[in-house]
Amino acid sequence: MCGIVGYIGNKEAKKILLDGLCELEYRGYDSAGIAIMQQGDVSLFKAVGKLANLAAVSDGFESKGFALGIGHTRWATHGKPTEANAHPHIGENSFVVHNGIIENYAAIKEELIKEGINFLSQTDTEVIGHLFEKNLKKTNDSLEALRLTQEQLEGAYAVLIITKFENEKIFFMKKGSPPLLIGTSKNNDEIYFASSESVLIGQADGAIFLKEDDYGFVKKDEVKIFNHGEEVAFQVKKIEGTRAGAQKEGYRYFMEKEIYEQSAVLVDTMMGRVSKDRIVLEELAALGDLSQFREIKICACGTSYHAAIAATYMFERNSKIRASAEIASEFRYKEPFLSKDMLFVVISQSGETADTLEALKIAKNAGLKTLAVCNVDNSTIVRESDATILTRAGIEKGVASTKAFATQMLVFWMLSIVLAEKKGSMSNEAIKKEIETILKAKDAVVVEPAMHERLKRLSKRYLHGHGFFFIGRDIFYPLALEGALKLKEITYLHAEGYPAGEMKHGPIALADSELFTIALLPKTLLYDKTKSNIEELSARDSTIVAISPSEFDIADDFIKTKVWDHYMLEFFEMMVVVQILSLEVAVRLGNDVDMPRNLAKSVTVE
Ligand code: M6R
Repeated sequence: MCGIVGYIGNKEAKKILLDGLCELEYRGYDSAGIAIMQQGDVSLFKAVGKLANLAAVSDGFESKGFALGIGHTRWATHGKPTEANAHPHIGENSFVVHNGIIENYAAIKEELIKEGINFLSQTDTEVIGHLFEKNLKKTNDSLEALRLTQEQLEGAYAVLIITKFENEKIFFMKKGSPPLLIGTSKNNDEIYFASSESVLIGQADGAIFLKEDDYGFVKKDEVKIFNHGEEVAFQVKKIEGTRAGAQKEGYRYFMEKEIYEQSAVLVDTMMGRVSKDRIVLEELAALGDLSQFREIKICACGTSYHAAIAATYMFERNSKIRASAEIASEFRYKEPFLSKDMLFVVISQSGETADTLEALKIAKNAGLKTLAVCNVDNSTIVRESDATILTRAGIEKGVASTKAFATQMLVFWMLSIVLAEKKGSMSNEAIKKEIETILKAKDAVVVEPAMHERLKRLSKRYLHGHGFFFIGRDIFYPLALEGALKLKEITYLHAEGYPAGEMKHGPIALADSELFTIALLPKTLLYDKTKSNIEELSARDSTIVAISPSEFDIADDFIKTKVWDHYMLEFFEMMVVVQILSLEVAVRLGNDVDMPRNLAKSVTVE
C-alpha cells in the first residue's frame, strides 16, 4: 500500500524524504509527492509513476537549515493515479499524506462542498486537510482540531499533516491497521516518520510504534502523543541493523535475487531450531501446553494463504490434527464458529496485511490462543499475537512473494513435526527420517544454471494463449495455486490453479491447444492419479508443460526435475521452477517484474 515518510530537523529534507520513499516504493508506485516547509513557505512536488519522476520534478530544490517535510508513495484506492490525486493533498494552508481508507469521506466531502470548499482530487484523503482546517477555525487550537478530526474520520488510516499555522510541528494520527512510526535521534534534534521500520534503519536511533487511536505532534526535539484526549507515555525501541540487505547484487530484479536466496534463507529459518533428531520451536512456549489444541485454523491472504492450505495437508498428515485454512477477508465477515480448543494461526510476510490483522483480532476477542508466522519482527501482526515464529526470509522487495513463501512452507513443515512429536502421531523413527529430509530442503531450492537456462528458453513459447492452468494434487494443489498467482501477478496473463482431479468437473471445457497446462507431476505422491488427469487434458489438445522427474511422452514441453525420495523435496524444487518460469515470461513481455501494475507489497487496506 501507500508509503509515508516525514522529517523535521536541520538536514536536507528533500534527500531524506526521497531516500525514505525509495525504501518504500515497492509498496505502492502509482505516484509520489513531497511537501517541505521552511519558515511557513511550502514547496510542493508531485509526479505520476515511479519515484524517479518525482526526483526529476524536484531537481534543483534543496532545503537549507531547519525544515519539516512529509512524503508519500501512492497505491490508488480512490481516484486514478494522476498528479491531482497524488499526495500530499492540500487544504487552504495544510498538507496531508495518508495511508489507508477514510470510509465516510463521501459524506464529509458533501458537507464541506456545501460549505463552499473546493476539491481538487477524487481522493478520500483530501477531506482530511479541509476537515482539520475547519476544526481549527472552530477551536483555534491545532491539537484539539486534530482530535476532533480523528473523531470524525471513520476507517483505517495513518496520517501526517503540516500546516502553515504551526510551522515548527508535524501532526500525526493513526487508526486501525496502517502502521506509523516515529523515529527519534541520538542528539534529540531531529525526528523522522515512516510507515515501515526499514526506512528508519540507518537514519533514526529509536522507533516509537504508534498505537490504535494515537494522535499528536512532534517538534524537532519533542514528541507528544495523545489518545482520546489524554497525553500518553511511549516506549522508544532501539533501531538495529543496516539497509545493506536490500540491494539487487547483480541480479536483474529483486524477485530473481530472492528466488536465488531461497536456499540460504531456508538455512537461516532452520538455525537453532532443527538438530539431527529434534526440532525445537521455543517460540511456542508462549502458547502454553500444546496438547490443549484439538484443531488449527489458519487465516491469511494471497501467497500466505497458499502456504496456509499447504499447512493443512501437513498438519493433518503429520500431526493428525484437524486443520483448515481461510482467506482472511472472507473469514472476518462470516461470523466464524470458533472454539477455545482451536489454535488460531495467521501467516503474513509483511505483518501488516489489514484483513489478516482483523482476522487475528476476531480470534483474540473470542479468547483463542494465536500464533503468527511472519517475516517482519515488530510488525503489527507480530505484536498482536500471543506467539510468533519468524520466517527469517530477510527483506522481500519483489512484490511477487517467493522466498517468504519458501520459509513459510518450511516453518509449517517443522511445526507439523513438533506437533506430531507432542501428540505421538509419528514414530520416533519416522520423525527422525522427516528431520533428515527437512535438512535437505535447502538443496532442493538451489537454482541450477541449466534449469534456469532451460526455463528462459521455454518461456518464449508462453507469451500468449487464452490462459494457463496450473494443476497438482494434494499439497501440490496449493503449489499450483501459487504458480498461477505468480504468473498472473507479473505477466498479466490469465492463470488459474486447480486440483488436477477437479478439471473434469468443468474447467476441462476450456481445453484446446491455446490453453496451457502447467502440470506438477511429482514421482513420490499420487503420480499415476495426476498423470491420468494430465492425459485427459492432453486428449482435449491442451498444450502440456509437465514438471516431473519422470519422462512424460505426451508432454509438449517437459521440465525434468531431480529424483527425490520425499514429496516435500519435490515440492520445493517445483516451487522454484514455477517461480522462474513466471519471471522469464514476464521479462520477455517487458513487464516491471518487481513492481507489477496495480499491486503493492503490503496491503494495509481491506
Ligand atoms: O504480507 P502478506 O503475506 O500478509 O501479504 C499477503 C498478500 O498480499 C501477498 O502474499 C500477495 O498475494 C503477494 N503479492 C503474492 O505474491
